[in-house]
Amino acid sequence: MRTLKKMNYVFLGLTMAGVFSISAFVYQSRDIEKGAQLYNTYCASCHGIDMQGGNAQSLINGVWQFGADDSYIFRNIKYGITHLGMPAYENAISDADINNILAYIRAAEKERGVVRPDIANETGTMDYDMKIEVLAEGLEVPWAIDFLDKNTALITEKPGRVRILKDGKLVPGPVEGIPAVLNEGQGGLLDVAVDPDYAGNGWIYLAYSHALDVPGQNRPVAMTRIVRGKLSGNKWTQQQVIWEAPSETYRTTRHHYGCRIVFDPWGHLFFAIGDRGIQDQAQDPSLPNGKVHRIYPDGTIPADNPFLNVPGAMPSIYSLGNRNIQGMAIHPVTGQLWTTEHGPMGGDELNLILPGRNYGWPVITYGRNYNGTIITENTSYPGMEQPNFMWNPSPGLCGLDFYQGDMFPKWQNKLLVGALKYEDITLTTLADDRVIHTETILKNAGRVRDVTSGPDGAIYVVLNNPDVVIRMSAK
Ligand code: HEC
Repeated sequence: MRTLKKMNYVFLGLTMAGVFSISAFVYQSRDIEKGAQLYNTYCASCHGIDMQGGNAQSLINGVWQFGADDSYIFRNIKYGITHLGMPAYENAISDADINNILAYIRAAEKERGVVRPDIANETGTMDYDMKIEVLAEGLEVPWAIDFLDKNTALITEKPGRVRILKDGKLVPGPVEGIPAVLNEGQGGLLDVAVDPDYAGNGWIYLAYSHALDVPGQNRPVAMTRIVRGKLSGNKWTQQQVIWEAPSETYRTTRHHYGCRIVFDPWGHLFFAIGDRGIQDQAQDPSLPNGKVHRIYPDGTIPADNPFLNVPGAMPSIYSLGNRNIQGMAIHPVTGQLWTTEHGPMGGDELNLILPGRNYGWPVITYGRNYNGTIITENTSYPGMEQPNFMWNPSPGLCGLDFYQGDMFPKWQNKLLVGALKYEDITLTTLADDRVIHTETILKNAGRVRDVTSGPDGAIYVVLNNPDVVIRMSAK
């Protein structure tokens, strides 16, 4: 067995314990030789003596199916991927030793000069061979894409820019006059959605993290806000705020803003706000976070919204108990709303959202806290919805659309489910409200932030790392 040079990484971390005392401590030190021994004892029987696979996949081919970052690999070892036969080692191997194994895997990757494969220019699926083209490069954390017409798309970049993609090419400068966003943590400029009657009315909708300065506080507070406006050449004009939360509900947390925008066939606009990191608030109907909302595109409230007659409830709320929805799509036949929601560690969900229903977070969940502790013992509870489909571990579901088009006729009305961590798109077949088949049609091209069925029938995918937009078409 090849021996790898022993290396110790020592990270110096700073912690703030109270306001006045700052202490330095050793965060982690990694021992590759120990990692190698543990690998041989626990892992080699499946992943191979040389890590090149055997009873399970290779760990040194540059392809990580279940998340490439150290933190993802660490969790996959600690908590397992048990339904696929990857055991959980949380009771057998200490965290420090899991890090030692990880260091051994990384050192072996380095020694072999493993590089992550480039985006392929073609891919095969069960039904079609597909061509993959990179359309837009040089973006910064692109977040969403939607089409104005057959040849023109708008792309949001999280730092606060809207870009125009015309005839498959990125227009050089961003749209001018986009509202200021709080680009911090998971916040920034989020979704863009084009009015279903855009040709007639010209409205374009944006969701973003809107900040307010609070006197005496050193950090702004923020909440998701929805505006609409029109494009005049390269300028954003006629902006109207169509939905914003009361300022007292704004939070200093940096995550779980949601936010996708979709329209149903009856003229409603849906959007979702994540729990903003305060999980219990997802159950409180007087607060905007952890909910799906339904309004009309001009900001007025539908007269049959489910919480209108509940004292103290926000009138725009459509459903409760939604942790952080990152994918939304309207079923082309039924007009019903489907969403994908991030669970905590484990428990990502696909849900059919029905009016007034409670989706359970954080009273019920199939996930755990990231530190492994239990959030709740309950996975079901009377009066709370079960997911239509559940993933454990969490793929980091993001971006959702029903395929509609002539290019891939066999995929009509099937769901395209994107994932950040697993870096994939899963073609998902529904029969009524049940998932009956899934197939991965894109893998390891990058973190999938958004996926949409384009007006030409091709599939457009917004990736992060690399920050590009790709087009998948029939070969
Ligand atoms: C009983 C067989 C078995 C053992 C033992 C085992 N694994 Fe796995 N491991 C699997 C299977 C099966 C998968 C799922 C991937 C697949 O379908 O090949 C997996 C997946 C993984 C992944 C995710 C890979 C990716 O592409 O994201 C990592 C990381 C991993 N194993 C590390 C380890 C480590 C480290 C050990 C030892 C502590 C170990 N495994 C022990 C069977 C095993």
